[in-house]
Amino acid sequence: MNAPADVQEKLRALLHQMALNSGSANGKEPKSMEEHKFWKTQPVVKHDEVVDEDGAIEPDVPLDQVRATPYPLPKEFEWSLVNVEDDKEIKELYELLTLNYVEDDDAMFRFDYSAEFLKWALLPPGWKKSWHIGVRVASNKKLVAFISGIPQDVRVHNNVKRMVEINFLCIHKKLRSKRLAPVLIKEVTRRTHLEGIFQAVYTAGVVLPKPMATCRYFHRSLNPKKLVETGFSQLGRNMTMARLIKLYKMQTQTNTPGLRPMEEKDVKAVSTLMNKYMSHFNLAPHFGEEDVRHWLITRPGVVWGYVVEDPETKEITDFFSFYSLPSTVINHTTHSTLNAAYCFYYAVQIPDEELSKIADVSEREAARDKAIKDRLTGLMQDALILARQNDFDVFNALNLMDNSLFIDDLKFGPGDGYLHFYLYNWRCREVESKKVGLVML
Ligand SMILES: CC(C)(COP(=O)(O)OP(=O)(O)OC[C@H]1O[C@@H](n2cnc3c(N)ncnc32)[C@H](O)[C@@H]1OP(=O)(O)O)[C@@H](O)C(=O)NCCC(=O)NCCS
Repeated sequence: MNAPADVQEKLRALLHQMALNSGSANGKEPKSMEEHKFWKTQPVVKHDEVVDEDGAIEPDVPLDQVRATPYPLPKEFEWSLVNVEDDKEIKELYELLTLNYVEDDDAMFRFDYSAEFLKWALLPPGWKKSWHIGVRVASNKKLVAFISGIPQDVRVHNNVKRMVEINFLCIHKKLRSKRLAPVLIKEVTRRTHLEGIFQAVYTAGVVLPKPMATCRYFHRSLNPKKLVETGFSQLGRNMTMARLIKLYKMQTQTNTPGLRPMEEKDVKAVSTLMNKYMSHFNLAPHFGEEDVRHWLITRPGVVWGYVVEDPETKEITDFFSFYSLPSTVINHTTHSTLNAAYCFYYAVQIPDEELSKIADVSEREAARDKAIKDRLTGLMQDALILARQNDFDVFNALNLMDNSLFIDDLKFGPGDGYLHFYLYNWRCREVESKKVGLVML
């Protein structure tokens, strides 16, 4: 069922998604290639370039030709790796991000990744200390900037590459527009080259040269009263609070038989299910069992992972997950935090054998979507119920993977935010949002 037209909820987008300086979302024209003083020097696809064959833009750099020393910083600053496993240092990183990381265009909300979340995000299998890069003020050692990378096998169309996923680029508000970001980006690139990796994947709300995919954020109200009070949502004309609450009311218990939290013993089955499901997408991670164990088993307050175990056969037939990313409500008298859950990875079984009998590609795609829509909608309904049980105010999802199959039925509304996906040193054909299978935190 679609939300009635008179609801007209203008759901605000938070998120990196959110087009901080974004050309598309705030009415400003995106910069021309010539105006990108930094990005025009980098191996990325140019704005006017049309790609019809995938491949590296520059060859790999032999180790002895990789710059051996860090890029110079202005003299008041120094490089400093952040030891994410150390309580004091993770707190410093948390404080930098909670006060200076991504805000929405109207500066009403700012991401508030928890310290536990940051450890989860930065310490996956194969993590490297040399990719947790901080900048401190030389005189007082205050942490004022950060950029990070984690290793990940990523498939783009038919090529699987070991890449670095770049995230948490942040510069203290007082140090903006001083061209520090390019130095951080060059330094993480150098450190990536030192490890023999030459491709990166990253996302941003801003338009840079050149998105290989663009997704839109959708939001499902779980606590509509608080969302309106904080300004995240607005009451449409002809809408009362009582009606709004009724509109988003849900059952309190989940429906799917055999749904239970994922456990260690499910890792193998979930890995198989996940990689099979991911084969449908043109940008997707390849998860080994270690990755599944790290990313998908519940960590209280950080990520929730569930499986469906067939009550009769005991087979694991589906799984889903969501993570917690609250936002600070900036300058609000009664509310300090918005508790947002974000849709993470999931998989349902696909009737491959039946589908393989359909020769026409678009007919086969339509039959696939039809076959999984009901199942997936039921699972995500349960995800919403679990998110509500865990006190989340809103459930966010991009229109990637098969999310468009349940977004309307489950009363998600479109946000203002878009998230652009980028590859560094890899040219590729563009990917439609529904063919994106990579979720970045
Ligand atoms: C993003 C941020 C680090 C950029 O720093 P800044 O001080 O505003 O910009 P600088 O003067 O240092 O550098 C400008 C260059 O960085 C580029 N840049 C800005 N945001 C970027 C991003 N998110 N990713 C990559 N490059 C970015 C600009 O396009 C510009 O390069 P160009 O001249 O080739 O176009 C800073 O604004 C910030 O910390 N914002 C809040 C957190 C955030 O949005 N992080 C990014 C999440 S994707």
